Amino acid sequence: MSAASAGGYGGAVDELEASFRDAMARVPAPVTVITTSADGQPTGTTVSAFASLSIDPPMVVFALDNRGGMIDRLRASGRAGVNILAGHQADAAIKFASRHTPDRFADLDWTLDHDLPRLTEAAAWLRCEELEFLPGGDHTVVVATVVSAETDGDSSLAYHLREFKDVRPQR
Ligand SMILES: Cc1cc2nc3c(=O)[nH]c(=O)nc-3n(C[C@H](O)[C@H](O)[C@H](O)COP(=O)(O)O)c2cc1C
Repeated sequence: MSAASAGGYGGAVDELEASFRDAMARVPAPVTVITTSADGQPTGTTVSAFASLSIDPPMVVFALDNRGGMIDRLRASGRAGVNILAGHQADAAIKFASRHTPDRFADLDWTLDHDLPRLTEAAAWLRCEELEFLPGGDHTVVVATVVSAETDGDSSLAYHLREFKDVRPQR
């Protein structure tokens, strides 16, 4: 067992951050690619900080790092696509997390759905409007209203202990 708490000096804070990261690695997380169109260009980012928020109306919530480029692009477009990745799409998750890939959509099957980039083989697709932005530490929390939802298959990609897992019905 290991533990840390916030202290009054840098070492304890670094230790808390490491323990916090280790604790959160034990939360099995969804893997999505959040997309939008910015200046006519498709853009997308891998996001695990994603959850359902409300059923009536349907709403979701996700969090984006303030240092990344996606948050500004979403503020500009006001609309978002959520690609909930299928179990076989770990390569897409890595591609959309890469800062060094010039075209994250290259070699992938995707279409435009109401001008939002949609990955063809994703397990589910949500089209979102009416984005609201709330401060959340070094991230921004995005609250989004879902205007369309579709599914494709029962296999989903999860992230657990810093590894991708294909989650599917056990039958
Ligand atoms: C499995 C996984 C989950 C991630 N989850 C998030 C997340 O929830 N929020 C976030 O801002 N970045 C997350 N990232 C990191 C971003 O995808 C990465 O920093 C990306 O380069 C940011 O792109 P951008 O500059 O276009 O926003 C995740 C990366 C991986 C591999």
